[in-house]
Parts: sequence; C-alpha cells; structure tokens
Amino acid sequence: MLKNDTFLRACRKEPTDFTPVWIMRQAGRYMKEYRAIRKRVGFLEMCKTPELVAEATLLPIDILGVDAAILFSDILIPVEAMGMEVCFTEKGGPVFLNPIRTESQIQGLSIPGPSESKERMPFIADSIRLILRALDKRVPLIGFSGAPFTLATYMIEGETSKNFTWIKRVMYTEPALLHNLLDQIAITVIHYLDMQIEAGVHAVQLFDTWAGSLSPDDYKEFALPYVEKVIRGIDRRGCPLILFANGVSSLLEYMGNSGADVVGLDWRIDIGDAGKRVGDRVALQGNLDPCVLYAEPSVIRRHVKSILGKHGRGPGHIFNLGHGILPDTPVDHAKALVEIVHEESK
Ligand code: CP3
Repeated sequence: MLKNDTFLRACRKEPTDFTPVWIMRQAGRYMKEYRAIRKRVGFLEMCKTPELVAEATLLPIDILGVDAAILFSDILIPVEAMGMEVCFTEKGGPVFLNPIRTESQIQGLSIPGPSESKERMPFIADSIRLILRALDKRVPLIGFSGAPFTLATYMIEGETSKNFTWIKRVMYTEPALLHNLLDQIAITVIHYLDMQIEAGVHAVQLFDTWAGSLSPDDYKEFALPYVEKVIRGIDRRGCPLILFANGVSSLLEYMGNSGADVVGLDWRIDIGDAGKRVGDRVALQGNLDPCVLYAEPSVIRRHVKSILGKHGRGPGHIFNLGHGILPDTPVDHAKALVEIVHEESK
C-alpha cells in the first residue's frame, strides 16, 4: 500500500482529495543538487549507475513534494541496447555516430528480447529496486520509454532535428523500410517496459515527443499503429499507461482511442476542449506552459487556477507541465507550483 496513491487513482479516474502533480524532467539541471552529481560523472554514466539514478530520482520527491517519482534515465538507453552508439554532448543533446540510412543498417540492429534486455541494461532493474527501497512507499514510481516513432526519429536523424528531413525522406521514398524499423523498435520497447514493470514500477509513460511533426494521415500510418502495438504487447499487470506527445492537438482523438489510460497534453490546447475530444474513458495529464515557471508565484497561481477550472472538478486529472521543465527555471517556482496545485484543488 502506498502512502500517497493520488497519482495512480487519478490515472484510473478515481476520486482524489486533491489533484496530484509531477513535472516532466523533474530531476534535472535546474536543481543544484543535480548539477553537483553531474559535475562528477557524464550523463550516460549517471544513467547506468543505480546509486546515482536513485539519488536523482528522489531529489524532486524530497525537494518539491511531487506526487510521483519518475525513473531517472533517458529514452535513448534502449536504442543503445539495440547496438547504436550514442553520446551526449556537453552542450546537451544526444548524437548518434552512425545514424540509420540504409536497409543493411536496420538488419544490423540487434533486438533485445526479454533476457537480452536484462543483460544489456542490468542497471534499469537494479535502479528501480534501489529507488523503491528509498521511496519507502511514499509515492508511486513511473517507468517510461520513448514511443517507436520518436525513437526512430533519433536513430535516423542522428540528433535532435528541426526539420525531420532524413526520417521524412525515408517515410516518403522507402516507407516499407521505415515500417520495418518501427516494428523492430516496438518489439524492443515492449521488452524494455516489461522489464521495468517486472522490477516494480507502478505506471509507465510513453514519450512520443516528435509525433507532432506528422500530418494526421502519417501519424495514423507511422506512429499510432506502433504505439498501439506497444500498448497491446506489454504485460501491464494493472499499471496505468500514459501517452504523451508534443504538438499533437490535431491527433488527440487517435491518442484517446489508442488504449492508453492517460493522455498527456502540451500547453497549446485548452484542457477542457481536450477532455471533450478524447472522451470519458481516459484521464488527462498537463498542461502548463513550462515558461510560466519563470514568473512569480502569483502569476503561477493564476495559470494553475485556470487549468484546474478548465478541467473541471471531476476525477482524472494529473497536473504537469506541457513539456519538460527548462534548465533555467527557479527551483522555488517549481516548489511553489506543487504547493499551489495542492492548495487550489482541495
Ligand atoms: O522526467 C525525468 O526527470 C526523468 C528523466 C528523463 C530524462 N530524459 C533525463 C534527461 C526523461 C523522462 C527523459 C526523456 C527524454 N529524453 C525525451 C522525451 C521527453 C521530452 O523531452 O520530450 C527526449 C526527447 C530525450 C532525449 C534527450 N535527452 C534530449 C533531447 C536531451 C538534451 C536536451 C536537454 O534537456 O538536455 C537529453 C538529455 C537529458 N535527459 C538530460 C536529462 C536530465 C540533461 C542531461 C544533462 O545533465 O546534461
């Protein structure tokens, strides 16, 4: 039994005494405690060191008082386990040394099955076990993965892309090749999330960060079927699944029907309108513009009240930002956000 299970209850659309809140990228560079860890080790090394992963994961629980913890890791960890070499530049941002451009490169990938996942990424289950011990049932732990289309974007573009020209070139000139890659990634993600659920996470989130670069038809062909394959394929054991995508207000109905329990919203859409469009079955997560946290608490309060009001009093809302917290956010403002959400929703 968890001491605070409001996050899980909200995922299931059960009533809660207040609206639970967590923050995407809640353990990150805006915290001096995080920067102190990162002074000692590189980002990838940090992700692979369970003691440091547990330390980082717990920071926002202790400092901000959020209602859920999220495994400290990165969406590109399983891509590395498929055999691609990834590095993080000190400026921030992942880079693949040999981005995928040919069919033979796809054939050269090695899909980790259940046992290979554990062998190649032993630090994931080890970290989850350490985190659960340190959390001592205070709040639930969220596991996560990138969604297939977003992972394929990184694998083909080789870095964070502005125009998505490489993946779209493949999409429009060699669609079968992209489908083959997406299928292999979906299988990898299924085993990756199964491993996290088996190790004890309480919920999982799929990040489809770049789905918003697609037209609705292309979303239906290249992103949604693989999200659905993952959702159908994982052994959920009662874990709620959150599907987050960025810049996808035109795709909300599809996300609502994907089989996800919760749809994560960016800030470009009114949460009240989103609720009408995704229907009653799913809960909603979001959706404050991360830049609101640059402003003082009175301004944050006004925006929080507006979002809570638009969602309405019914169950099924998890408060969050519409995308990750920015590195130059004042920690006091993140702390104020958590307090304000709790106060205003009681
Ligand atoms: O939410 C959390 O606190 C959990 C940890 C987490 C990280 N990345 C840590 C991280 C999660 C859930 C992610 C997901 C992730 N990673 C996404 C999807 C979410 C989103 O932002 O849309 C994406 C696209 C990535 C890939 C990635 N990792 C990028 C583009 C970058 C560079 C940009 C940046 O913010 O630095 C990273 C690096 C990264 N991932 C950092 C952290 C804390 C910063 C690393 C550092 O210390 O330098």
